[in-house]
Amino acid sequence: MLHLRCLQTQLQLAFDDDGLVTSSSRDQADVEHNVEKCYNRFRNISHIDFEYEITVLYTGFQLFIHRIPKLLRTQNLQYLQKGLFTPLQRKFESLDASKPWLTYWISHSLALLGDQSSLGVEINLKNQYLISCIIVHASKRIINFLLTCNNDGGGYGGGPGQMSHLATTYAAINALVTLENEDALRSINRKSLLQFLSRMKQEDGSFTMHDDGECDIRGVYCAISVAYLCGIQSEQLFKNTGTWIVSCQTYEGGFGAVPGSEAHGGYTFCAVAALMLLGLMHTCDVDSLLRWVVNKQYSLEGGFAGRTNKLVDACYSFWQGAVLPIIHAFLCSSQRDTTPVDTWLFNQEALQEYILCCCQDVNGGIIDKPEKQRDYYHTCYGLSGLSIAQHTLGKEIVVGPNQNTLVPTHPVFNVKLEAVKFAQHFFSDKSDL
Ligand code: FPP
Ligand code: ZN
Repeated sequence: MLHLRCLQTQLQLAFDDDGLVTSSSRDQADVEHNVEKCYNRFRNISHIDFEYEITVLYTGFQLFIHRIPKLLRTQNLQYLQKGLFTPLQRKFESLDASKPWLTYWISHSLALLGDQSSLGVEINLKNQYLISCIIVHASKRIINFLLTCNNDGGGYGGGPGQMSHLATTYAAINALVTLENEDALRSINRKSLLQFLSRMKQEDGSFTMHDDGECDIRGVYCAISVAYLCGIQSEQLFKNTGTWIVSCQTYEGGFGAVPGSEAHGGYTFCAVAALMLLGLMHTCDVDSLLRWVVNKQYSLEGGFAGRTNKLVDACYSFWQGAVLPIIHAFLCSSQRDTTPVDTWLFNQEALQEYILCCCQDVNGGIIDKPEKQRDYYHTCYGLSGLSIAQHTLGKEIVVGPNQNTLVPTHPVFNVKLEAVKFAQHFFSDKSDL
């Protein structure tokens, strides 16, 4: 028996423009049309009682027809492996300053796909072997490469010889923690890292992204996340930071990049994850935050948008989706009348259907929305959002076959849960500061 939301025939969930057509409402209608086409592929064949997947040879290329949405594991692995070992193509030269990001996006995506046996999920042995080989082999190369991005004054640049930046430092640390091994963690110079974070710190509690750089909420989150993962946090380092974060919350309920700017999912995640780590969630307006974020999940598509009246995009599956487990944890820990139910406060099945039915490239990788191109950023955050939507407190809600199950990710750091525990334990008794 199928329970897919996208198989209901009378959804009638399309955006209502109140008869006022604008370029935004036209864009929204286009996306809805494309998304419906994706869902219709499932509707049209839903009456056929096939196995999970049939493969039809059709004019020389393979057409995959799934009765229920299936995560294309093998194709994802091939796409990710290619990115880890192939030099950047010329057309991607703009990513030359984002190499630690690429390393993180790919290693985290691999980690989410791997280690299925510990979840008790039936696995394809060939894939599991491939994942282990990729990670062991890649581990040394990743550590050595990131060491070449590490600067004497602390922090990591976007590539060898590039100045340290808080965003690439966050990406480098997350990549190293993801490897879940002591060599990777030992390669982190905590003393110079702390010097770098302290140098970026501003009087008002915010952080600049680099020496003489811009100041926004990404800097705050990157600094806090790195500090807590490596055990170098202190009251002094984050003095006034909570107050500065709260000053970025807008009248809508979400957070902007700096005080007075528009609420956006990416910045809201940074704010909420940072407040959670500081133990200061109670200092923001959680009710309006919750109202804002749940309204960013769109009824017809099932995915999240980043801001009001904008379009769904798979990357917000994580940026917005991860805010809900954090709010959930806060509501459970606070003495409120309303204790949330045991699922996250968004439609977890609908989000999974959006990612699996509308955002998978047949050759592996995740796309922003139908008709877009795949890339490693959307693959990382699409899979991360899928993981968030699958794992509720001690309970799994998995759309599709069990093989779709990913490894749980930590909603605050976006590193696999076990690797976070490993790093925090590893650094707990170090005296290298
Ligand atoms: C809008 O793009 C995108 C932004 C304003 C930045 C979003 C911020 C993040 C994704 C968070 C980064 C986090 C870290 C840790 C560095 P757009 O106008 O193309 O997209 P939209 O229409 O969906 O808003
Ligand atoms: Zn995106």
